[in-house]
Amino acid sequence: MTVQGAVLRALRKPRGSARQGFGTTSRRDNWVVFPVVQALVFTLCAGYLTFSGIFWEPILPTGYRWDGYLSPLFSPLIVWKDMPTWLSPGLLILWIPIGFRATCYYYRKAYYRFYFADPPGCAVGEPTMHRRFALENALPFVLQNLHRYLLYLAFIPLTFLWLDIIPAFIAPAGEAGVTDPGLRIGIGGLLFLVNVTLLTGYSLSCHSLRHLVGGRIDCFSCTRARRVRYTLWQRLTDLNRSHMWWAWASLITVTLADIYVRLLVLGVITDQAIHFNL
Ligand code: FES
Repeated sequence: MTVQGAVLRALRKPRGSARQGFGTTSRRDNWVVFPVVQALVFTLCAGYLTFSGIFWEPILPTGYRWDGYLSPLFSPLIVWKDMPTWLSPGLLILWIPIGFRATCYYYRKAYYRFYFADPPGCAVGEPTMHRRFALENALPFVLQNLHRYLLYLAFIPLTFLWLDIIPAFIAPAGEAGVTDPGLRIGIGGLLFLVNVTLLTGYSLSCHSLRHLVGGRIDCFSCTRARRVRYTLWQRLTDLNRSHMWWAWASLITVTLADIYVRLLVLGVITDQAIHFNL
């Protein structure tokens, strides 16, 4: 056996403090609750977002914008004349955030646990069948290495989501007694603002960004530019400590923001807002 083969073989075998055998552990806490709750929330949000962003419009055209509110799944909105009806505008942009989240270091840990039991929890035995898998050394999981490039791309829709805040806070003339376009502080606008703030926190707390800013430097204090990078790296490290919470909070708010717009379009709810003439 070659050295490389021996290393790969060793990597494929589960090691560490976990006992061998699926689910065997010395842990006495209720370790199974956390992955089960995460699996439910993740499956519900990801399933709904995929349906809404990619399949809803081609199957049952409903509309994804209402009076200045554009669902975050469709931003930036890319449409053209004679666009095929089977093609949702969401699909043209969603591949970026979907790829970004799917390859996220935190989400990988989470969904490897709750979908693949790899391992099911810290110090909990995993299925012995995993010994046969190359995991991130082969397709399809080797594509996880694209995360850094998806990080760069993720800032494109994020920028547009910030721009979408402007029309969300502008009331068109004639709305609620506003004579000229005025200021509108509505539930939708506030939801959009919270959502884009959390998405920004999620992106800025990314492990890859932290490495990009502060990694591969031997001396932080040697030059002015490196000192600036060190300061930035410290700020990103502060955000990075809560990366898991940014990930879950932003996933939930982006889901809520889309549901809110859909309910407005369907006439199920009305937007509660305070209007000001400017
Ligand atoms: S590690 Fe989670 S977004 Fe980059």
